[in-house]
Amino acid sequence: MSETTAAQPSVRRTAAHDSAFLRACRHEPVPHTPVWFMRQAGRSLPEYHKVREGIPMLESCMRPELVKEITLQPVRRHKVDAAIFFSDIVVPLKAVGIDVEIKPGVGPVIADPIRTRADLQRLRPLEPEDVGYVTEAVGLLVDELGDTPLIGFAGAPFTLASYLIEGGPSKGHERTKAMMYGEPELWAELVDRLAVITAGFLKVQIEAGASAIQLFDSWVGSLAPDDYRRSVMAGSAKVFDAVAGYGVPRIHFGVGTGELLGLMGEAGADVVGVDWRVPLDVAAGRVGLGKALQGNLDPAVLFAPTSVVETKAREVLHAASALGTSGHIFNLGHGVSPSMDPDALTRLVAFVHEASAR
Ligand code: CP3
Repeated sequence: MSETTAAQPSVRRTAAHDSAFLRACRHEPVPHTPVWFMRQAGRSLPEYHKVREGIPMLESCMRPELVKEITLQPVRRHKVDAAIFFSDIVVPLKAVGIDVEIKPGVGPVIADPIRTRADLQRLRPLEPEDVGYVTEAVGLLVDELGDTPLIGFAGAPFTLASYLIEGGPSKGHERTKAMMYGEPELWAELVDRLAVITAGFLKVQIEAGASAIQLFDSWVGSLAPDDYRRSVMAGSAKVFDAVAGYGVPRIHFGVGTGELLGLMGEAGADVVGVDWRVPLDVAAGRVGLGKALQGNLDPAVLFAPTSVVETKAREVLHAASALGTSGHIFNLGHGVSPSMDPDALTRLVAFVHEASAR
C-alpha cells in the first residue's frame, strides 16, 4: 500500500459528511462559515498541560486514549467545526526509524541528519503496522466525534526535508537549499521517499476514518516559484495523488506562500490555506476557480481587545465573500500560540458563526 498506484476504496460517507466544514470544502451551501484553528490542541489550553504532565511530546502521540482526549479538548471548549488529530509532522519519521525528539521550546531535533545518498536508505516506506497507535486513536475519535469531522494531517516533503537535513529548526534552510540546488538528483530522491512516507501516513488516517486531510508545508514559503515548481511540487503532488481516490478534501497550507498559492493549488489541493499576508479575495484570484480557501486572521490579532478581533474577523469574512456563498473555512493565518488566551479563541468561534449565519 505504500505506492501511489494501489487500489483504493470508493468515497465513504462518514457521519460528518454534511457538516459545515466538509460542505465548505466542497463549495456547497453552508449554514455558517465553519471555523477551526491550526494548533487548536496544545499549549494554549490548561487542560492540555494537565494531561501531558511528565509525558514527552512524541510519546504522548503514541497513547491512543491520551491522543483522543487532547484532540477533543478544543472541540469541547471552543465549539470549533472540526477536530485536528493530535500528532506531529515528525511522527511518521520516527515510525520508520529516524531518531527524532521534540525538544520543548525548540522543536524537532534529528540525532543524525540526512545528508548523503547512503543516509537515504534510512527513509523506508511507512507501513500501517508502524503506526498502529494512529489507527487506534483515529478509530476512538471518530466514534466519539459523531458528525464533527476529524482532519488528519502530515508534513509535506520540503518541510520534512528541512528538519532532516538541517537536523532541527532553521531560519534560512541553507543546507536544505544547498542540496536542492547543488545535488538535484539526491534531492529529488529524498523528496520522493518523503512523499511515499507522507502518503502512507495520510492513508492510515483516512482508512481509520479521518474525513479530510491537511498537508503542512510550513516552511516552503522560503522558495521562489520557479524553484518550487522545479524541485518541490512533484513530491507534494505525489502525496495528493496518492490519496485522491478516497474523495476526502485535501487542504494545502504553508506560511509566507503568497507567491506560491497558484502552484500549491495546482499540486492537487481542494482547499488552499492562506496566511495573513494575502487578503482572501486576492488569494482567490491567485488560486483560481474551483478551490476553497482556508484562513486567514493574523494570529497576533488575538492579543488585541475583543472589538479589534471582531473587526479584523469581519474583514476576513468580507474578503472571503469574493468566493461566493461557500468555499471558505475560517482559520488563523498560522497556528495558535501557546500564550494565547483560550477564551479569546472561544469568543472568536461564536463571533464567526454569528456574523456569517445564513
Ligand atoms: O492542534 C493541532 O493543530 C494538532 C497538533 C499538531 C502538532 N504539531 C502538535 C504539537 C500539528 C498539526 C503539528 C504540526 C507541526 N509540527 C508543524 C506544522 C504546523 C505549523 O505550525 O506550521 C510543524 C512545523 C511541526 C514541528 C513542531 N512540533 C514544532 C515547530 C513544535 C514546537 C516546538 C516548541 O516547543 O515550540 C512542535 C511540538 C508540538 N507539536 C507541540 C504540539 C502541541 C508542542 C509540544 C508540547 O506541547 O510539548
